[in-house]
Amino acid sequence: MTSTTIPNAAVDGGGNPISGSAEAVTRYDEAVDLLLRYHPDVVTAAEGIASDPRALPMGQVFMAYLSLMTTDVPDLDGARQAAAALSTIPLNERETAHASAINAWLDGRWQTAARTLDELLVRWPTDVLALQIGQILDFFVGDAQNLRDRIGRSLPSFDPGDPRTGFVRGMHSFGLEESGHYDKAEAVGLAALDRNPDDVWGVHAVVHTYEMRGLVDDGIRFLRTREPDWGSGNLFTAHNWWHLALYLLEAGRYEEALAIYDAEVYNDASPEVSLVMLDGSALLWRLTLDGFETGDRYSKLAAAWESQIAGEPWYVFNDFHAVIALCGAGRTGDARAVIQRLERYVAEAPVQSGSNRAMTAEIGLPASRAVLAYAEGRHDDVVGDLLPIRTVFQRFGGSHAQRDVLQRTLTESAIHSGQLDLARALIDERLSLRDTSAYGLLARARVLARQGADDEARATEQAAAAHRARFDTAAS
Ligand SMILES: [Fe+2]
Repeated sequence: MTSTTIPNAAVDGGGNPISGSAEAVTRYDEAVDLLLRYHPDVVTAAEGIASDPRALPMGQVFMAYLSLMTTDVPDLDGARQAAAALSTIPLNERETAHASAINAWLDGRWQTAARTLDELLVRWPTDVLALQIGQILDFFVGDAQNLRDRIGRSLPSFDPGDPRTGFVRGMHSFGLEESGHYDKAEAVGLAALDRNPDDVWGVHAVVHTYEMRGLVDDGIRFLRTREPDWGSGNLFTAHNWWHLALYLLEAGRYEEALAIYDAEVYNDASPEVSLVMLDGSALLWRLTLDGFETGDRYSKLAAAWESQIAGEPWYVFNDFHAVIALCGAGRTGDARAVIQRLERYVAEAPVQSGSNRAMTAEIGLPASRAVLAYAEGRHDDVVGDLLPIRTVFQRFGGSHAQRDVLQRTLTESAIHSGQLDLARALIDERLSLRDTSAYGLLARARVLARQGADDEARATEQAAAAHRARFDTAAS
């Protein structure tokens, strides 16, 4: 990597040094603004600014991140090409730091990449690309504290009048939410949306605050009212629709949740990208846990996962969701083959070989084994796999809402295996945080009925029904 002074050095929209002509830098700023909105045109814009590495090194940086942030193995080639181009051209210090982060990520050292972007942001706090990618990395490795604090460190450096500041507030909202500051996260997120109603990441942050507090009716109203801002025309639609489907599950509106799956989460027209398919797996599995039939949807989804799980393990959060689809489709032999491949990977890869090995060994493998055990009716095994790691699920990435699928799997298996005291403890823990949870109340009622406490079970069912009636009002 060569660091040198670039004769035509300029600053980008954040006031940070960047190599390239004024015209090239303008196109870079436009690409950054598209990425902040998850606008589909960001792909074409990235190709445009990456066409000539010497004219705009940050074009290569942008392309590398765009490829890496999908978490899909087939996209790694694009990131590698961009990284190779960066190694042959003069770079300023900020561009050199980005190249280091990209190389660490490509090398499988996801946490190192995140830390490199932290260090970069200490020096250039208004590098909004570093902020956005850094937060995504924090999300991928399950670092809730830095999801919040990475943004908090930079936010005061942004001009309140800068339109991008609203998007940074949207990021801050998500970090606040994942670290448990739900009320503040909601307020910050709503302020972000006042500035940029099409900030779909900010919409998503606010949605999470309702999910985590069990404010299902508020969540449904929020998404329905603002649907024109997030429901179509961006690369994040499937996931926000997935969140609406989660609310509808809590409301007991299973058919509507399934209709959202078909129309917006996963269908024949969906891109075969992991970040979309994992929402499909997670929604179908929740329906399965609730005893709801899903037709042949798992089969199509499992077939789509095949190309993603064929190569070298890269991000086990994806492999885990592929195992869900395979198990749901009844392909338990293929699910076992994925697990055995992950076991070989953990056994053969050096301990210090990268982030994914540790994430696989600690969480990904037992979580995948638990899903297979559930599918095979081995509920004691599910409890054995998940109970020891249930407080550290975050170490394999994702959000609290996404990882809740594991907590629910554990709870259901505790009930199925007759470990009713454990089931009741898990359910009471959930209700202590979300006392409106219809799922939690109905699960509690099932446990009470099996323990012979029929009157209390009926009363608990009625409490769940009362919440669902209120959720219905919002959904109708
Ligand atoms: Fe989410």
